[in-house]
Amino acid sequence: PRPSPSSGTSSPEGGRGRLLPMRITLVDHPLVQHKLAHLRDKRTGPKDFRELAEEVAMLMAYEAMRDLELEETTVETPIAPARVKVLSGKKLALVAILRAGLVMVEGILKLVPHARVGHIGLYRDPESLNPVQYYIKLPPDIAERRAFLLDPMLATGGSASLALSLLKERGATGVKLMAILAAPEGLERIAKDHPDTEVVVAAIDERLNDHGYIVPGLGDAGDRIYGTK
Ligand code: PRP
Ligand code: URA
Repeated sequence: PRPSPSSGTSSPEGGRGRLLPMRITLVDHPLVQHKLAHLRDKRTGPKDFRELAEEVAMLMAYEAMRDLELEETTVETPIAPARVKVLSGKKLALVAILRAGLVMVEGILKLVPHARVGHIGLYRDPESLNPVQYYIKLPPDIAERRAFLLDPMLATGGSASLALSLLKERGATGVKLMAILAAPEGLERIAKDHPDTEVVVAAIDERLNDHGYIVPGLGDAGDRIYGTK
């Protein structure tokens, strides 16, 4: 059976009907699904792919940031004082897994332009599919921020799991992982390694192929964004 969580709700199911311990939010809003259809389409070139991925990330952030804290204050409208709510609590950090996570940062910064941005450079070894780290630069106060880890693709889950470990080593807590597409294998890996992590996705696909690509997926996200293949 396919998982059936709906937008903004959590479900313990992570594909194949398997029960997973962590919270998964599936953002299945019609606009997201429509843009995702174009992202999957192999005829979509890098320019449109980048724009669509930014837009999907922005729409996903709307759901991922639903639980941000608010505080009451007062502003003067042209007519009268109004009690209003503004964001409060921890400041935000967006952490991109390079390369593909960069487009998600661009989209989400349009919503939360004051968020600080961190970068974690990882690539998947094509043979072992294990992530290889080549870079990390995070806001120095990452432990005091609400952090969102961004990567469009959660395939084996190796890259996201390593990135979450690197964030935790530096004191980050309550990190949310945002991925446009997830394979059941990736969700299971995060559930095993980081059961405390909430995952926000736009779709959960069928499986991985023998090369570790998501099926049907959208291909290699980094290559499609930057036109490198
Ligand atoms: C892709 C993708 C993820 C990773 C997912 O990056 O953007 O980071 O693969 O695979 P995993 O869940 O099996 O770890 P890639 O390694 O191709 O690097 P790139 O973005 O620099 O091309
Ligand atoms: N990385 C990608 O970019 N795409 C996949 O399908 C799997 C890993």
